[in-house]
Amino acid sequence: MISVRAGGGRILIGKQLLPKTGKKCQALAPFRQCALISDRNVARLFADWIIQSLTSSGFRPTLITIPAGEKSKTLKQVRAISDRMIAAGLDRKSFVIGLGGGMIGDISGFVAAIYHRGIPHVQIPTTLLAMVDSSIGGKTGVDTRAGKNLIGAFHQPSLVIDDVDVLKTLPRRQFNQGFAEIIKHAIIADAKMFEQLKVARASGLRRASGTHALLSVIKRNIQIKSRIVAKDERERTGHRALLNFGHTVGHAIERAGNYRKFLHGEAVSLGIVAACAISEKRAGLPADQRGAIVDLLGRFGLPTRLSRKFPRNKILDAVKFDKKFESGKIRFVVTPRIGTAYVADNITITDIREAVEKL
Ligand SMILES: NC(=O)c1ccc[n+]([C@@H]2O[C@H](COP(=O)([O-])OP(=O)(O)OC[C@H]3O[C@@H](n4cnc5c(N)ncnc54)[C@H](O)[C@@H]3O)[C@@H](O)[C@H]2O)c1
Ligand SMILES: [Zn+2]
Repeated sequence: MISVRAGGGRILIGKQLLPKTGKKCQALAPFRQCALISDRNVARLFADWIIQSLTSSGFRPTLITIPAGEKSKTLKQVRAISDRMIAAGLDRKSFVIGLGGGMIGDISGFVAAIYHRGIPHVQIPTTLLAMVDSSIGGKTGVDTRAGKNLIGAFHQPSLVIDDVDVLKTLPRRQFNQGFAEIIKHAIIADAKMFEQLKVARASGLRRASGTHALLSVIKRNIQIKSRIVAKDERERTGHRALLNFGHTVGHAIERAGNYRKFLHGEAVSLGIVAACAISEKRAGLPADQRGAIVDLLGRFGLPTRLSRKFPRNKILDAVKFDKKFESGKIRFVVTPRIGTAYVADNITITDIREAVEKL
């Protein structure tokens, strides 16, 4: 088992950790009650193990499940969950465990942030994306009709338990989308990991023989993200913005596809391709490095081209909706070479249009 410190809490990475949940939570709460929040897919797979482990360590867990999918990340569900917690008698000295992907991580974290003005949050991520991205950094929240993640709070998890065994049941597309964020981290901060990924493959990392390599990839990504977040925890200095590499166009593609056509990581993959074209034009990214990035995304089963029929105008409209263009310029993360990135302020909508048209 690997242990990493991040955001004031601890992150455990390993195999067969779920049956140890109770033990790992011992240090957390003076009282014994906790809410185990999950979605119905994930609860069916793993909740029993965790309840058993918590109970045998003397905890009294209350299982609360909500339907799977982004549509559950709402204030309505926050209220329903909180009502259940109140009815179960959870007080200021109880804690929340979120068991699931990023959706559950975000909503359970938000509940933990506001319940009795804040109680500890434990995350048990069950998707690769949640392990390498959403469980780190302390951003929690829900969506509203006007947009994603518009209501939320910063609330760092006290403990994160990454058990790679849970990834075995994760559908392939869900597994692969985690690599969009992993490749993003390599591009902005770690040229060496980029080289390592070139010799790995998603299918190899999924096999039992690839477990060691997968554990070290997860650890490395946690370190990269938590280091960037530590420099700018509340998103004030702009450093955290580096994590948005590929996301300006990525978010716009997600939106243009009505959040149905692409998973987040797939849209980000396309966003990275666009950001690389812009980086080549404006930041001197060598063409062969741009090629290597596109190649690597493809090798992890991620899309790098948009179908001819996909409406490019809708993407541009979504970029404009999302971003403020000050005198025609936008703040946009570029990479001058693999392993580094910075926020450029000279990118124009024309640069973005050209890059999107080439996709
Ligand atoms: N807080 C942050 O910093 C941050 C960062 C990135 C993304 N996010 C959020 O994360 C969410 C996306 O996360 P996600 O991609 O993990 O989606 P998700 O939580 O919706 O999970 C995707 C699907 O996989 C299923 N699933 C999860 N684990 C499984 C497993 N082990 N086996 C089988 N099925 C499993 C779920 O039931 C769900 O249907 C979005 O809401 C996004 O806004 C937050
Ligand atoms: Zn992302």
